[in-house]
Amino acid sequence: MRAISVTEYGGPETLRVADVPEPVPGRGQVRIRIEAATVNPVDVAARAGYLAPLAPDLPLGLGLDAAGVIDAVGAGVDRLAVGDKVIGLRDWLPMPTGTHAEAIVLDADAVTHAPRTVDAAHAATLPLNGLTAFQALDLLDLPAGASLLVTGAAGAVGRFAVELAALRGLRIVAAASAADETDLRKAGAEFFIGRDEPLGATVRNLVPGGVDGVLDAAGLGIRALDALRNRGEFVAVNGGDVVPVNLRGTRVRNVWFRADAGQLAHLVSLVDAGRLSLRVADVLPLEDAAKAHTRLAEGGLRGRLVLTP
Ligand SMILES: NC(=O)c1ccc[n+]([C@@H]2O[C@H](COP(=O)([O-])OP(=O)(O)OC[C@H]3O[C@@H](n4cnc5c(N)ncnc54)[C@H](OP(=O)(O)O)[C@@H]3O)[C@@H](O)[C@H]2O)c1
Repeated sequence: MRAISVTEYGGPETLRVADVPEPVPGRGQVRIRIEAATVNPVDVAARAGYLAPLAPDLPLGLGLDAAGVIDAVGAGVDRLAVGDKVIGLRDWLPMPTGTHAEAIVLDADAVTHAPRTVDAAHAATLPLNGLTAFQALDLLDLPAGASLLVTGAAGAVGRFAVELAALRGLRIVAAASAADETDLRKAGAEFFIGRDEPLGATVRNLVPGGVDGVLDAAGLGIRALDALRNRGEFVAVNGGDVVPVNLRGTRVRNVWFRADAGQLAHLVSLVDAGRLSLRVADVLPLEDAAKAHTRLAEGGLRGRLVLTP
């Protein structure tokens, strides 16, 4: 089958479609014939070598989530069957091929039935970033009525976080580019802050004393922590140097996505009920993966780039 994996670290020009053996599902696993797979910042980071501390061996598969149709089922799987339209998330990084391929084998626990109301390209945008936003909100564990700052609110994780936080009854301060204000207010943000405004001071003008929680999807670090009240909850999504220290009794943690078919099925039900929206910036063939990496790294996209094998 055709697949794109990291075989050497470098720029987008290193990406090549290769012929690799088709994976075979083992016990408790299913094989998905992929129809659509998203390109995420993690793929750009993996290609450039930044994921080496987490997954040191090459080849390293690219692509974490996908939508497609099950075409083989291992022993012991009864919830899913050949022919089912599904979405799934690869959360085990050291795999030689990922979802930027014609097929992937995943544990059945990482796979659930696709939303009925959207096409495969839109469905593929849900698992990684929908689950990351959901799990970040679980970590924050704020009660209804509490205030939450979401930075990078127009991005993939951020916008899911805004819609999901609104469903949890949180009062949302969204930080993004000025052009995103109308969309984010529609998604549930009560307050909006443009990225050029001083974050901490502006939030504290809107919410005296600071917000109860921060979900820092833009990786603003200490500047986002400035908006948090004393003893508030802070969740970073991109790890590394930008995770701030826990000043003023705040609790600072990092979310790390994990596959969870039950949570994913819940998100699917929200999509089908029209309560969670999915955004596609463009759909490209697998052969254009290098173009997709370049466009993603340039920033400014609204919705995800999707590859079709
Ligand atoms: N820990 C985990 O489990 C996990 C899971 C998924 C993703 N991530 C990481 O989370 C981060 C976000 O991922 P993503 O897919 O949501 O990326 P994304 O779609 O590119 O979203 C990031 C957003 O932040 C915005 N932004 C950048 N600087 C800003 C600022 N100063 N103020 C307001 N907004 C700003 C960007 O706007 P522009 O596009 O206009 O620049 C973009 O909309 C990435 O680092 C990704 O690797 C981590």
